[in-house]
Amino acid sequence: MNQDQPLLLKVQDLRRHYTLPRESLLRAPGRLPVLDGVSFELEVGGALGLVGASGSGKSTLARLLMALERPDGGRVELLGRDLHALSPHELRDARRQIAIVFQDPAGALDPRMTVERSVGEPLELLERMPRPMRRERVLEMLEAVGLTAADLDRYPHQFSGGQRQRIAIARALVTRPRLMIADEPVSALDMSVQAQVLNLLQDLRRRFGMGLLLISHDLAVVAQLCEQLAVLEAGRIVRQGPVEELLGAH
Ligand SMILES: Nc1ncnc2c1ncn2[C@@H]1O[C@H](COP(=O)(O)OP(=O)(O)OP(=O)(O)O)[C@@H](O)[C@H]1O
Ligand SMILES: [Mg+2]
Repeated sequence: MNQDQPLLLKVQDLRRHYTLPRESLLRAPGRLPVLDGVSFELEVGGALGLVGASGSGKSTLARLLMALERPDGGRVELLGRDLHALSPHELRDARRQIAIVFQDPAGALDPRMTVERSVGEPLELLERMPRPMRRERVLEMLEAVGLTAADLDRYPHQFSGGQRQRIAIARALVTRPRLMIADEPVSALDMSVQAQVLNLLQDLRRRFGMGLLLISHDLAVVAQLCEQLAVLEAGRIVRQGPVEELLGAH
């Protein structure tokens, strides 16, 4: 690897706990440790799969990587910069570099917004791009995810679940991020549609040279798209390495 090139993502000893409701006035409220010293690295353009049972802390980790929440300890470096130490202005710039795709595409899209507005909104908010330029970029992204110009003026309810996830992916990628975080991106979709959306993610990753952090409880999904695998158990990474090595060990 090029020595001068920083890692896409360097996560060091990341910690996060939630405070439980107080049971007694005489005792301090309990603490629920959710991430308990998580460390991993992702090279520029690399793909890491994060698997773990429900409640193991996967989505909490995703929120910390997006700087939607602050950690209680440890650090996240995105392309060499400490994400949680950035000024609001720098953070806005960093957010353009990271995209997130969630499990539920309906929840990611405002039902009152046309596809053109939904997909173009990050360009408006994060890049202050004027409307005619936005329309062009939105159309380019729609075509990249398999939709067309005829879809620009339609609303989310006019699409199937798989198409809605494609729209959510177009919205996530419209700022041309360096890293895509996908949190269970296909688990709400029909089996027949899952493979199509996974293939799409793989294509887009290659086409735009993006890194991918794919979060899933399904090892088969992760193995299809990622070279590296990390297994999260109760807030700790218990195994980590190349996918073939970890799958071979079973
Ligand atoms: N805001 C919060 N306040 C209190 N506890 C929380 C909060 N968010 C998450 N938790 C708890 O943290 C733990 C980890 O939750 P998280 O959503 O990160 O798990 P997950 O691995 O994404 O699970 P799933 O596979 O079900 O999506 C759970 O025990 C959850 O109840
Ligand atoms: Mg989750």
